[in-house]
Amino acid sequence: MPSLTTTTTTTILLAALTGASTASPLLARQAPSITTPPNQPAPTPTPWDHGATPDFPIHSSCNATERAQLQDALHEMLLLAQHAKQHILRFGNSSAQYSQWFGQAPTAGPIGWYERILSADRADTLFRCDDPDGNCALHPDTYAGHWRGSNATQETVICPRSFSGIRWSLNALCSRGYTVANSPANAFFATDLLHRVLHVPRISEGLVGHFAEDYPEMLALARERPEEAVLNSDSLQLFAVDVYGFDISVPGVGCHGVYSAVEEEGAPAATPSPSGVVSSVAVETPSVTQSADASCHTHSDGFVHCD
Ligand SMILES: *[C@@H]1O[C@H](CO)[C@@H](O)[C@H](O)[C@H]1NC(C)=O
Ligand SMILES: *[C@@H]1O[C@H](CO)[C@@H](O)[C@H](O)[C@H]1NC(C)=O
Ligand SMILES: *[C@@H]1O[C@H](CO)[C@@H](O)[C@H](O)[C@H]1NC(C)=O
Repeated sequence: MPSLTTTTTTTILLAALTGASTASPLLARQAPSITTPPNQPAPTPTPWDHGATPDFPIHSSCNATERAQLQDALHEMLLLAQHAKQHILRFGNSSAQYSQWFGQAPTAGPIGWYERILSADRADTLFRCDDPDGNCALHPDTYAGHWRGSNATQETVICPRSFSGIRWSLNALCSRGYTVANSPANAFFATDLLHRVLHVPRISEGLVGHFAEDYPEMLALARERPEEAVLNSDSLQLFAVDVYGFDISVPGVGCHGVYSAVEEEGAPAATPSPSGVVSSVAVETPSVTQSADASCHTHSDGFVHCD
């Protein structure tokens, strides 16, 4: 009986229009633009995002405690990305941190990357703990995880080492001697995961990469090639942790620190590392070793890059 529905709708609309027109001519003029024309059915809501994957999937190979820690760290990663975006939306390029890390680049780029981390669909992405490529077992003392690269480009392996206490919670930011300028970017599980999701093409669109990794190089990149700074994984990580420290952790103070050149690898670390276990390794200095796959290289912190 569509005629009954139409009639009812028409009656209600006419009543609304009549009421509006007696109340105010302005409202009467606006009313038709916000109501359904009487001769058309009201649109039925469609589940436009049916099948979406809003949360990062965690594989069943992660046990209960690994899953719990990973979920906490992913939540903290989203807090970092959310605040980085908010800071840029509020201050734009007048932010001292913005110009330090991204120079004169338009703000839409970094805002877009943080937004993709926050909200891009996570279909096909996977965090897994079962070491399918055998890298965790091969390097138990150095590998904390790796992007699977050409083996499974949307997948990330997190090794047991990541769950052994080497990564700090974000609520320790600006304590334990940590400084943005001198401490390893992956001191926090949240920054480590920012790095890892930026390797996943579903998030990074294959554009974010490694253009500069140590502090002076990153600042030079921001000054000289800002268009690359906004695509530089480490710059995106460190800007996020820098403004979180300054705005949230210790408001108005933060823990940027003053850069001092890193010591040679093998010398005692000049700066705190997230674990006593690795304190003798200058983890902030990438030591590049070739792996079996010629397109991959392994950093001393166990992160495999396949470019
Ligand atoms: C800051 O952004 C404005 C546009 O919003 C632009 O005109 C200006 O050149 C930028 N300044 C710097 C230092 O990047
Ligand atoms: C991909 O798989 C091969 C064979 O299992 C392995 O040797 C290689 O290390 C894997 N690549 C990565 C990035 O893990
Ligand atoms: C989960 O795996 C970790 C190794 O990453 C292990 O230390 C822990 O005991 C396991 N937890 C449970 C509940 O089995």
